Amino acid sequence: MTVQNADDKKPLLYVVVCAAGVAGDVCKLITHAQERHWDVGVIATPQGLGFLDAEAIESQTGYPIRSAWRTPGETRPLPPADAIAVAPATFNTINKWAAGISDTLALGILCEAYGMGIPTVALPYLNAAQAAHPAYQRSLRQLREMGVLIGSYEPHRPKAGGGADRFCWTEAIDILEPRITRGV
Ligand SMILES: Cc1cc2nc3c(=O)[nH]c(=O)nc-3n(C[C@H](O)[C@H](O)[C@H](O)COP(=O)(O)O)c2cc1C
Repeated sequence: MTVQNADDKKPLLYVVVCAAGVAGDVCKLITHAQERHWDVGVIATPQGLGFLDAEAIESQTGYPIRSAWRTPGETRPLPPADAIAVAPATFNTINKWAAGISDTLALGILCEAYGMGIPTVALPYLNAAQAAHPAYQRSLRQLREMGVLIGSYEPHRPKAGGGADRFCWTEAIDILEPRITRGV
């Protein structure tokens, strides 16, 4: 399926990258989104930035990676988003987002996205010990109530090497696209 704006410009997907083990493979999601006719801009949490090859991502997307708040008066480095994918989404960012905490640029964008009606999907990547925390279950419920679409990854066993082979990057677009209103 090809999603396009009414003026025939490609829609822009923000990919919010958190500091989880699989973050370095985010190029897989960017490639898939671009193949499906999206432009992509990456926003990393401050911790997430350390997991990324910024130069490779910027050359793949054509946009600077955003991580810090811009200074007042500085122009916006990215056009507004048509949709947002949080991938990978950490335990930390999911809980803060659901609670309305906005102390990173990534969280600020996510907290506002709800009020702006921007379709948003989150692909959590975490272990079962984190997922067992009652706050995480509450956060997922809260985000679903807000209309956030949640990926299908089943948390991996703690201290057992993670589950990168099971993490489905392409799911972000597959889940989002049916929710996007397509231009004519
Ligand atoms: C090597 C490494 C791998 C990590 N993997 C994960 C992970 O898969 N999932 C997760 O929720 N946290 C993971 N963490 C912990 C997060 O990085 C930590 O909670 C951080 O504060 C998250 O910040 P962010 O949510 O702002 O990106 C990992 C930490 C390190 C150092």
